[in-house]
Amino acid sequence: MDDDKGTVSLWTATDETPARRQLTRDQKADVCVVGAGIAGMTTAYLLGKAGKKVVVLDDGEIGGGETAHTTAHLTAALDDRYYRLERMHGELGARLAAESHSEAVNQIETIVREESIECDFERVDGYLFLAEGDVRDTLERELEACHRAGLADVRLVGRAPIAAFDSGPCLVFPRQGQFHPLKYLGGLAKAIERDGGRIFTGAHVTSVTGKRVITVAIGDGGKMKVKAKACVVATNSPITDMYVTHVKQAPYRTFVVGFRVPADSLPHLLLWDTGDPYHYIRTYRDLDGAGVLIVGGEDHKTGQADDAETRFDAIEQWTRTHFRIAGETRYRWSGQVLEPADGMAMIGHNPGDNPNVYICTGDSGNGMTHGTIAGILLTDLIQKRSNPWTTLYDPNRGMVSRSSVKDLAKENINVALQYAKDYVHPSDVGSEDEIPSGSGAVIREGRQILAVFRDEAGALHKRSAKCTHLKCIVHWNSTESSWDCPCHGSRFDPMGKVLNGPAVTGLEEVE
Ligand code: FES
Repeated sequence: MDDDKGTVSLWTATDETPARRQLTRDQKADVCVVGAGIAGMTTAYLLGKAGKKVVVLDDGEIGGGETAHTTAHLTAALDDRYYRLERMHGELGARLAAESHSEAVNQIETIVREESIECDFERVDGYLFLAEGDVRDTLERELEACHRAGLADVRLVGRAPIAAFDSGPCLVFPRQGQFHPLKYLGGLAKAIERDGGRIFTGAHVTSVTGKRVITVAIGDGGKMKVKAKACVVATNSPITDMYVTHVKQAPYRTFVVGFRVPADSLPHLLLWDTGDPYHYIRTYRDLDGAGVLIVGGEDHKTGQADDAETRFDAIEQWTRTHFRIAGETRYRWSGQVLEPADGMAMIGHNPGDNPNVYICTGDSGNGMTHGTIAGILLTDLIQKRSNPWTTLYDPNRGMVSRSSVKDLAKENINVALQYAKDYVHPSDVGSEDEIPSGSGAVIREGRQILAVFRDEAGALHKRSAKCTHLKCIVHWNSTESSWDCPCHGSRFDPMGKVLNGPAVTGLEEVE
């Protein structure tokens, strides 16, 4: 990194992905999958293997959404902790959670092997260590809960096998996994097309309607359409549901820094601490073969802070304190995590919709495994096969345990307060003149609240600051140059174009 602004991700698209196709005419399919991230692509792959005709649509590139912003830990070690999941979902629920995440890692391994995908997949052990101030009892409670959940090989050890870092006592989760997420999706894309699937990028879906036949409309005014017997909406945050899932989960930004380290100076493993937000750590290698130590954490609620530099600095400071070996900072990026109040993703029928419209959302920081679980579960549901995980992941489930109700109330009070605060809050700046080039600010003009962006040439671009999902006021994110909604996580580019749902349409133009 040669400056202190902006972000650079370690993951870059691979040249090996098949050439993408622009959608130029209406399509028909058995299943239309909206979203070409891990959940959509795994679902499309498994349905294609089952003989279904599949069309995949994405308004960006394959894996260009949150899959490009993950650190790709593949694990059944869930950050919501099994002793808490037991309280929320019962012992059976915790067992099913452990089983489904373990099975997701197995599924990825199987696909990598059968499709010969060169994505640097490897089995590695994962280590959960104590955050500063936390006590050994946390590990002991989690160990017992892991065993009750069926993770019999988890054990407590004195420290992780890494000379450069004294972890102290930690739980070992043997045979977890890691890979390069975009190389993996490149391999899935080839296999989907080989099996007769069609993938269209640059296709912005604006609506999903219909009963026996689902019509997926693309582009302004729905100029083009895909007609299908079923539709899977895997857009990270669902664009087909206005309320039900959005009030049961909260969007957070999480931050990642990649440090140069000497090649092969660190063993290949996954590390997490027990903090909240927690630190998550793995290694990879740079294009030139040097090692990269990847450290993430410092999450905040989307749109409710604009201090990414401080958060990157905090990660850097923490890393340099614990890993003396950490060298130059090479990468910094941020991603969005959707935290469901009860810790489990929502995968299944879209609430209040036709039974043949399905969603996957609520990655809970385990997007790679939750996305793969979605592929397995939705393929079963679409083929009318029973699956033991259906109830645990049902998007219509109530979140009734005491702790999930408490979390749910806390998040929704936060949204209500933010909504009220933003509508009475004065402008970010006194006048447009105070907005520097390449930056944005919210300004009141009479009764209007505007999102004003000044481009590098000095020209001003004004949009309504009201998020097109449910009208919360967006906030400027100076590091990622985006307008972020503090309520349910919609994000827009500086000109108001949608980057993340649930909003489907861009910020409105103003006179
Ligand atoms: Fe719901 Fe903006 S994302 S109001």
